[in-house]
Amino acid sequence: MKIDILSVVPALLESPFSHSILKRAKEKGLFEVNVINLRDFSTSKQKQVDDYQFGGGAGMVMMCQPLADAIDTLQQDQKYDEIIYMTPDGATFNQKIANRLSLKENLLIICGHYKGIDERIRQHYVTMEISIGDYVLSGGELAAAVVVDSIGRLIPGVLSNETSALFDSFQDNLLAPPVYTRPADFKGWKVPDVLLAGDPKKVDEWRTNQSIERTKERRPDLLED
Ligand code: ADE
Repeated sequence: MKIDILSVVPALLESPFSHSILKRAKEKGLFEVNVINLRDFSTSKQKQVDDYQFGGGAGMVMMCQPLADAIDTLQQDQKYDEIIYMTPDGATFNQKIANRLSLKENLLIICGHYKGIDERIRQHYVTMEISIGDYVLSGGELAAAVVVDSIGRLIPGVLSNETSALFDSFQDNLLAPPVYTRPADFKGWKVPDVLLAGDPKKVDEWRTNQSIERTKERRPDLLED
């Protein structure tokens, strides 16, 4: 999978994909992320990318020209499966959307800034709008990093034990069960006996029950879906 990210602050995205699981995915050739500086596509002398909004009001708007030229140029070399705009008024990101996007080949993510991007770019180029939650960030970069991280780890072959993503929280609308590691007794706090007894069927049953109980207690809304 290849993900291109259009940003006016590319430095914000220099490091998030260069560590741990995503670093290994890149090394294995399963995953590529390119951060592209939107200013490089501005035709103005000052490399302007934003302007005052029509109708008045505080805050700048990201202009059509640099965005349209950047997207047109990038599309000359490839076809994107989705052109995603990160915005607080998009669809709230969740594991289902992450699963779906992890099966795509080629994505473009546009990071907004200021008051957002000119509505005409949303109408004529953007195919999907994503919010990572009901709060406003100063730009779309950190939101894009969240989305790319969650998609990247789901790409087949990226996790060393592929089944482990199947037991993540939110797969099957359930939260993940509690986990323990050695020692079996820490300060008198004991690991549940069932996990030490060596009966995989009982362990599975226990984990499923814990998942259901945890979801009922913390996120009953997931069970209504
Ligand atoms: N840009 C600013 N806030 C955002 C949010 N909550 N989700 C996605 N993009 C954003």
